[in-house]
Amino acid sequence: MTGMSGSIGIDDLAMASASHVLDLRVLAEHNGSEVGKYYVGIGQSQMSVATEDEDVVTLGAAAARPILDRGGESLRSSIRTLLFATESGIDQSKSAGVYAHGLLGLGPACRIVELKQACYSATAALQLALGIVARDPREKVLVIAADIARYPLDSPGEATQGAAAAAFLVGQDPALVALEPVTGLHSDNVHDFWRPNDRSEAIVDGKRSLGSYLRSLEGAWNDYRDRGGRPFEEIDRFCYHQPFTKMAVKAHDRLCRLAAPGLDAQARAVQLGRSLELNRVLGNSYTASLYLGLLALLQGEEGLEGRRVGLFSYGSGSVSEFFTGIVQPGYTGLVRSAEARETVAARTPVSYERYRDLHTLIDARAGQDYETVRETTGPFRFAGVQEKVRRYEPTAS
Ligand code: CAA
Repeated sequence: MTGMSGSIGIDDLAMASASHVLDLRVLAEHNGSEVGKYYVGIGQSQMSVATEDEDVVTLGAAAARPILDRGGESLRSSIRTLLFATESGIDQSKSAGVYAHGLLGLGPACRIVELKQACYSATAALQLALGIVARDPREKVLVIAADIARYPLDSPGEATQGAAAAAFLVGQDPALVALEPVTGLHSDNVHDFWRPNDRSEAIVDGKRSLGSYLRSLEGAWNDYRDRGGRPFEEIDRFCYHQPFTKMAVKAHDRLCRLAAPGLDAQARAVQLGRSLELNRVLGNSYTASLYLGLLALLQGEEGLEGRRVGLFSYGSGSVSEFFTGIVQPGYTGLVRSAEARETVAARTPVSYERYRDLHTLIDARAGQDYETVRETTGPFRFAGVQEKVRRYEPTAS
């Protein structure tokens, strides 16, 4: 199935989750919060929790593998660029993408780089990919977005953790979504959320981060319109970065107040479609979250072909972008609905005690050699550190 002739965009889109899951009811029982604060107030019911032998490399490679399986040898030889977006990287120098490239068995004729700007960098990767394909339409670019969202235990951010990955293929005549050229940008040097080099958990000023997100949305939207972007009425569905799903609802309310005052709550909900469904159970997946929102939107609704989707990407600190794409005919047959549902359902509930142990393990082991226990149910595992080198292997071995 091919898209509009000559268009460039997302040709395939897949996801992976960490193997464990913690229901936020369990967290509420232990920290004294009302569960309604999580289920309703922030709109989250569960979060994925990474096992000892999972990290952004194993999650990212697991997300990308089905794309390569579907595309076969001809796809493998067309991928000459792998862009790995993450803010929970495993090395300050070497790209997580190089490890993923090895696990996926891609060929040596490939440029690989890791991109970082909080939750925004997968969108930077997408924009770079569009340029690469425009220059040589024979090329396909593999973008992997993977993150493990970590906040201090017993902090307000704890309920908005998560661990998941999205992978997508950018190419000409895309099968899923053709991207349109106008984008709106907004950047601002703000300290709402950041993670200095000596820390494994993010520092966050929660209230400031919400304000900064909403101001960035207004800025990016205004820039989008100034650059000749479509009026609000011509955009059928909206997909937002989702640190927690209620944030997307708040964001859409804010955009409607600016661009479509008077639109009722039911119409606003229709415009969000089913885009919240995956993030609600996976938790925050930082760079992957917007693209998991897109996957949820596409898998949750038929009849979107030819419809325009607005996407808002926000990375604290901050950089943000509003852009649009057109859903392509035949998308329902290609979107990986069953796989996503199975991945979510296959997660193993983790006890509260084990969740806390896993949380603290990462800092306890920093700088040491160690072996991890076999725990992941994914296709690749992080085996541990030997002589300062991180070791990865297929799970089956
Ligand atoms: N039933 C229903 N709702 C309830 C409730 C109950 N029993 N108890 C509380 N609530 C509601 C509150 O009214 C509130 O709703 P509103 O915001 O609509 O008023 C909501 O639940 C949350 O309650 P609090 O504001 O009291 O929650 P908190 O301050 O303890 O924590 C948080 C919320 C600030 C989002 C915190 O989880 C946090 O710091 N998270 C990390 C930062 C973050 O995700 N920021 C998002 C923007 S930045 C970004 O997008 C980048 C990124 O990925 C991090």
